[in-house]
Amino acid sequence: EKGGFEHFMLKEIYEQPKAIRDTLTGRISKDNKEVIYEELGWEPADVASIDRILITACGTAYHAGLVAKYYIEQLARIPVEVDIASEYRYRNPLTDKNTLAIVISQSGETSDTLAALKEAKRLGARSLAVTNVVGSSISREADQVIYTWAGPEIAVASTKAYTTQLVALLLLAVYLGQLNGKLDASLREQILTDLHELPNLCNEIFESVDDIKAFARNYGFREDAFFLGRSIDYAVAMEGSLKLKEISYIHAEAYAGGELKHGTLALIEEGVPVIALATQDDVREKMMSNVKEVKARDAVVIGLGLAGDTELEKYVDHTIFVPRADKYAAPILAVVPLQLLAYYAAITRGADVDKPRNLAKSVTVE
Ligand code: F6R
Repeated sequence: EKGGFEHFMLKEIYEQPKAIRDTLTGRISKDNKEVIYEELGWEPADVASIDRILITACGTAYHAGLVAKYYIEQLARIPVEVDIASEYRYRNPLTDKNTLAIVISQSGETSDTLAALKEAKRLGARSLAVTNVVGSSISREADQVIYTWAGPEIAVASTKAYTTQLVALLLLAVYLGQLNGKLDASLREQILTDLHELPNLCNEIFESVDDIKAFARNYGFREDAFFLGRSIDYAVAMEGSLKLKEISYIHAEAYAGGELKHGTLALIEEGVPVIALATQDDVREKMMSNVKEVKARDAVVIGLGLAGDTELEKYVDHTIFVPRADKYAAPILAVVPLQLLAYYAAITRGADVDKPRNLAKSVTVE
């Protein structure tokens, strides 16, 4: 049942090219010019009536929501707030009939997410679920549903569900921008053309798995690790940090590059591994100055960037490259080495990868 893989998590990491392809199928027009979300079937007027978007979810799905905020705000220019479901449901939120409430849940059964969905609906919001399980409680409760076609995810640590959530949400952002006229046709076509390539590019990442294994062996016994990023890379850094924590039990923190000076820098000392994400060109210079800051404290920096970035190599101790993709697709690729790093760090430490201590796959109680 593990298809020759030692763990479900590894199998599911390797299933990502197929999961991404299945999630894209039928949702992009043949000429790569339009998103077709038949299950939504929205008209321009449906989008014009949305004042703001609320995204709620838990854990990894929440991290997908953080990336979606960038996607939607950049491509459709609609304000997005993202909240942890267990916070949203108890904060007397400002949600109304002009809010589109999006909930993200792999299982479709997470109790806090379901409760947040019910609360948003009670306040009059239109609701949309992004879920992986057909017929799940959340899919039945929401007004409309977008399915991620990742297939069953068995390992507790979410991998292919996350990447397919990003794909589905990027498509949604393009769809919104196409309906409200905020996204120009050429950028739309470029994003959709790149999305088509994503499964193949994702496959290429597996060719550098030996390097990732070596990093995991070298740094897997450290007690702390830091992930740094800016803009979308920051959201992906949070997901990389969660993966490492939950399966390898290494204490990890994700920091927005600009926040280093406001506290974390005090924790950086000789030999501490820092994984610096650098896939976003518009914040690149700023990111490199953050890398210099941690290097000056003798951290070991692993730079995660785009293939061919010879400049990055000059700043960091080691590099992991993912294939070149546009700024929206690149983070979907960048998370894959982080999943592998977490996996091999857990193996190095002899942890139970598929069933980390104290955690359950589906959290149906508060
Ligand atoms: C982390 C992980 C959890 C889930 C969270 C939400 O790897 O799997 O953080 O993402 O419990 O679960 P779903 O998406 O089923 O609502």
